[in-house]
Amino acid sequence: MNYEAFYGLKKEPFGDIPDPGFFYSGAEHTRALVKLLHVIKKNRAMGLLTGSIGCGKTTIIRKILADLEEEKYSVSLMTLTQPDFSAVWFDKKLGELFGLRFDSKSRTEMKLELIEELERRQRSKRKTVILIDEANNITNPEVMEEIRGFLNLELQGYRLVTIILSGMGDMYEKIKNNISLRQRVSTIVSLPPLTFSSSREYVNYRLEQAGSTGTIFSDEALKLIYNFSSGVPRLINVICDNALLEGALLKKKIVEESIIKRVGEELMFDRDNKEENDKK
Ligand SMILES: Nc1ncnc2c1ncn2[C@@H]1O[C@H](COP(=O)(O)OP(=O)(O)OP(=O)(O)O)[C@@H](O)[C@H]1O
Ligand SMILES: [Mg+2]
Repeated sequence: MNYEAFYGLKKEPFGDIPDPGFFYSGAEHTRALVKLLHVIKKNRAMGLLTGSIGCGKTTIIRKILADLEEEKYSVSLMTLTQPDFSAVWFDKKLGELFGLRFDSKSRTEMKLELIEELERRQRSKRKTVILIDEANNITNPEVMEEIRGFLNLELQGYRLVTIILSGMGDMYEKIKNNISLRQRVSTIVSLPPLTFSSSREYVNYRLEQAGSTGTIFSDEALKLIYNFSSGVPRLINVICDNALLEGALLKKKIVEESIIKRVGEELMFDRDNKEENDKK
C-alpha cells in the first residue's frame, strides 16, 4: 500500500537513509554543523563529532559533503565499517578516494604520492577535507599516528588537510591516548537527541519536504512519538513511517495518539523504554 498518495505526499517522508535533501536544521544539528564548518573554513586541523546512536552524525557528515562539494573544496568521505585495519590499508583507501592508483607500490611511494596530490590541490587553491565516519572503528594506534602525520603537512605555512572524525562516544577515548593528536582537536561536538519541540518540528519539516500542506499528526500523537523515541531521529522515522501506513489502512487523515500507541507497542518501544527505566 502506498500511503504517500493517501496523505497527498510526493515523496517518502521518513526514509531510513541519511539524505542531505531532507536535512532538518534544528538547533542541535545547526550548532554541530556550524562548529564543524568553522573548523574547515578556518583551516584548523581536526574536529570531532560524537553523540548517541541514531541522532544524526552521518546525516551531518553527508550534509557537509554535499555543501562543500559546491564550493572550492576537495572533500572525501571515508566510512569505516570494520575495526582493526592497518595504517597501510588507511593510506590505500585515501589513495582510492583521491583517485590515485597504487597497485603494487611500496608504502613510501604511496605516502609520497598522497602528499604530492595534497600539495597539487593546495597550489590550485582547492582545500582538502577528509570526513571519516564510524571513526570509532579506528582501534589501531598506528592509524592515529598516520592521521597526525597528515595533519602536520603544510605548504608555505598553510595546512594541507582538515580532518573531521565522526563516531560514537568511545572514539574520543582512543584519540585521547595519542596526546599529540588530542592537542590538534580544535572542536568536539556532541549531538544530543532532539528535545520535544525539535522533534515536533522535525516530523513536520520532513512531512513538508515530502509535499504535505496540512496537519497529519495530532499534538497528542506527536507527544507520544517523542515519548517512544526519546527524541532519537532514527526511531522517530520508524514510528512515523509505520504510523502513516497504519493511518492510511484505517483511512484516518489525521494520525491520532491511538495509532502511535499501537505502532509503538508493536515495535516494542514501550518495552525498550521500560527496560531503560528499570535500569536507572
Ligand atoms: N538533521 C537531520 N535531518 C533529517 N534527518 C535526520 C537528521 N538527523 C538524523 N536524521 C535521520 O535519522 C536517521 C539516523 O541518522 P544518522 O544515521 O545520521 O545517525 P547516526 O548518529 O550516524 O547513527 P549511528 O550512531 O548509528 O551511526 C537518518 O537516516 C536520518 O533519516
Ligand atoms: Mg552513522
